Amino acid sequence: MEEFQVKDKTLAPQGHLQIEWASAHMPVLTQIKNRFSKEKPLKGLTLGACLHVTKETAVLVDALIAGGAKVALCGSNPLSTQDDVAAALAEKGVHVFAWRGQTTEEYYRCIDKVLDYKPTITLDDGADLVGTLHSKRPGALASVKGGTEETTTGVVRLRAMDNAGSLKYAIIAVNDAYTKYLFDNRYGTGQSTIDGILRATSVLLAGKNFVVCGYGWCSRGIAMRAQGLGANVIVTEVIPTKALEAAMNGLRVMPIAEAAMIGDIFVTATGDINVIRKEHMQKMKDGAIIANSGHFNVEISLKDLEGLSTAKKTMRPNLEEYILKNGKKLYLLAEGRLVNLAAAEGHPSEVMDMSFANQALCVEHMAKTAKMPPKVYTVPKDIDETVAELKLKAMGIRIDELTPEQRKYLSTWEMGTT
Ligand SMILES: NC(=O)c1ccc[n+]([C@@H]2O[C@H](COP(=O)([O-])OP(=O)(O)OC[C@H]3O[C@@H](n4cnc5c(N)ncnc54)[C@H](O)[C@@H]3O)[C@@H](O)[C@H]2O)c1
Repeated sequence: MEEFQVKDKTLAPQGHLQIEWASAHMPVLTQIKNRFSKEKPLKGLTLGACLHVTKETAVLVDALIAGGAKVALCGSNPLSTQDDVAAALAEKGVHVFAWRGQTTEEYYRCIDKVLDYKPTITLDDGADLVGTLHSKRPGALASVKGGTEETTTGVVRLRAMDNAGSLKYAIIAVNDAYTKYLFDNRYGTGQSTIDGILRATSVLLAGKNFVVCGYGWCSRGIAMRAQGLGANVIVTEVIPTKALEAAMNGLRVMPIAEAAMIGDIFVTATGDINVIRKEHMQKMKDGAIIANSGHFNVEISLKDLEGLSTAKKTMRPNLEEYILKNGKKLYLLAEGRLVNLAAAEGHPSEVMDMSFANQALCVEHMAKTAKMPPKVYTVPKDIDETVAELKLKAMGIRIDELTPEQRKYLSTWEMGTT
């Protein structure tokens, strides 16, 4: 069986430095790794992971290996792999099959290679590995005890499988832990999406009309950070309560058909399909910039953009100019893929510290628990709370404890107006 496949093994020294830098900013995961080294809770397990191959993922992989596991890893997006990190992981003995700039066929071939290792536990980000396992490689299901899922879109897909009665093993929705989505999706995506847009375009955000499609956890973060840089943020939504929240946070809310006419920069983060499509592109201003930070590259209709265009050229890395039949120019970032991972480095290590601490502890939970019935599970509350406690401690923040009187007061009903 092939041991690994990466772009360039000579990039390993830089990759090791990147991992060292990330690790220094991931104190919670480092503590877990140290405990895993002693207790070896994952001894004898093979883990099959489909995650963005970044420096932070490498720190997670280090912790899992310290726990005694063997790890096979592929990327969860064709454009998000950091090739130096992949090379370093290969040098550490990880069965890594990932490089930046894969074709769709190469992407799925790498998932297949991970499944060839017959994982006991899967770690997925977007549910492509789980989907492939169920639809094309059912033979590999027999060895699987359980799995984890990192992102909203993956959890949505897994719940659909669960509801259809198709899910064949238990999966913990790591995304749905408080210590995941409240921080990773909001502050992580918020900061790194702006980072990706700036690295790709280098434009000034102050004074721009910045349209954010969606007002969920990721899009709230993006809107918040764009506002902080002086952009005029406009939100589009389909859920009334979220639209209302955006309005009361001082943002303009309108349908995308109206926003299309006035936006300078557009970012989608909805987990939905064709949110920006032909009729919106036709109305956009000359020079408008379009990016996506949702999981899949389906939020902006690339088919429509190609169909409307007569020519395109690459202006800078991750910045493609499309010339429309009417002479107007539109600019697409990172091929419509996750702009924060493709044009920048993904979430900062500090936030992935919490997401991946949840991953490591959920994998340990799966390893120690008897095989659970096939279903999508929430992260056990004690894991979520442990991650929050460890993170606060690492940040040097102390909080209050309830006094016995307060504990009693909060658990009784007798005392009212005094
Ligand atoms: N870029 C990253 O690194 C990163 C990180 C975490 C999650 N994600 C992905 O980002 C996407 C959003 O995740 P989330 O956690 O914010 O989900 P969420 O469910 O909290 O928010 C999505 C929002 O989009 C809205 N929406 C759906 N269709 C819409 C449409 N047509 N127009 C306008 N709004 C619409 C929904 O009503 C919802 O409020 C998912 O694909 C998720 O997997 C990306």
